Amino acid sequence: MDAQIAVLAGDGIGPEVTAEAVRVLRAVAARFGHSFAFKNGLIGWAGVDGEGTALPKSTVELCRASKAILLGAVGLPERDGTLPPSQRPEVSALLQLRRGLFANLRPISLHPALAARCPLKPEVIGDGIDMLIVRELNGGLYYGLPKGRTGDRAVDTMAYSVPEIERIAVVAFDAALRRRKQVCSVDKANVLATSQLWREVVIGVSKRYPDVQLRHMYVDACAMQIVQNPRQFDVILTENTFGDILSDEAAVLTGSIGMLPSASLGEGATPLFEPVHGSAPDIAGQGIANPLGAILSAAALLRYALGLDPEATSVEEAVSRALSDGLRTADLALPGARRVSTREMGAAVVERLAG
Ligand code: IPM
Ligand code: MG
Repeated sequence: MDAQIAVLAGDGIGPEVTAEAVRVLRAVAARFGHSFAFKNGLIGWAGVDGEGTALPKSTVELCRASKAILLGAVGLPERDGTLPPSQRPEVSALLQLRRGLFANLRPISLHPALAARCPLKPEVIGDGIDMLIVRELNGGLYYGLPKGRTGDRAVDTMAYSVPEIERIAVVAFDAALRRRKQVCSVDKANVLATSQLWREVVIGVSKRYPDVQLRHMYVDACAMQIVQNPRQFDVILTENTFGDILSDEAAVLTGSIGMLPSASLGEGATPLFEPVHGSAPDIAGQGIANPLGAILSAAALLRYALGLDPEATSVEEAVSRALSDGLRTADLALPGARRVSTREMGAAVVERLAG
């Protein structure tokens, strides 16, 4: 297959981890006989410094012309004060790029070799943690209008329409069919009107999926249950802000937020793949960041953007083998573990690719 992939490395550790994801994709292309063209674009502070804006027009055009976007990270908190809030990269670049990509998939699974890094007790972990957070990505407080500040008052608006809820619910139920067939829809329907509508629409969609079991949970209770009994969850379906918060909480269970990939999908917009972690400026440039979140995002790119399922699985299995073999970046290392650099971890995954 021929495919052009937009590579937006961004800020902080973004360039380091993205380089390893690209290295793995190049190896996949060679092993499986594909031809991927990687085209770099500026984003974030890299865009501000290079072209005066966090999301340059050239980057938008590159993304439009590509089959998929591989993104590193955006944001450098210490420079936040130098731009008005609406022009900061998180808002002006990332949220713009996500427009049209309403379905954000965040798989959370604990590799057995990392169980000692999980903050939960072995009896709570049991035979493992494996859930998928399906986060609505185009609505809620992030995009709702009105939004802004007037004098000493500020407003964000939580708004959802029936079609917006319906389409994300369909993604969650479809995903559940390929997994353990359970959806837990998370809301705050005891208080919020948007959540009451959410629940009503999700129940409606569930009628089309008689084989999938649906439950509802308030977001505060879910936050507690994720650490108390994470094994009860298969697919968690939730709105934008709740999904943002719950996915960071759940990420900790995998041993490090550096492990987590994400896929943002929609119709009519180029799908976007990015690790869940941020730009981590405190460790940038040291070659110690964990590239596995970025590499697993590249696997998601192969699966969801290019339809290359065996290739995606081979990357995921290579990551799993590198962990089983005891390789650990600094964030995963316990005393006595074999500590590797960002590049060594990327190379270890390439070495273990089958195919
Ligand atoms: C995430 C991040 C972003 C979000 C920020 C950087 C805007 O926290 O992808 O989870 O809130 O969506
Ligand atoms: Mg977040």
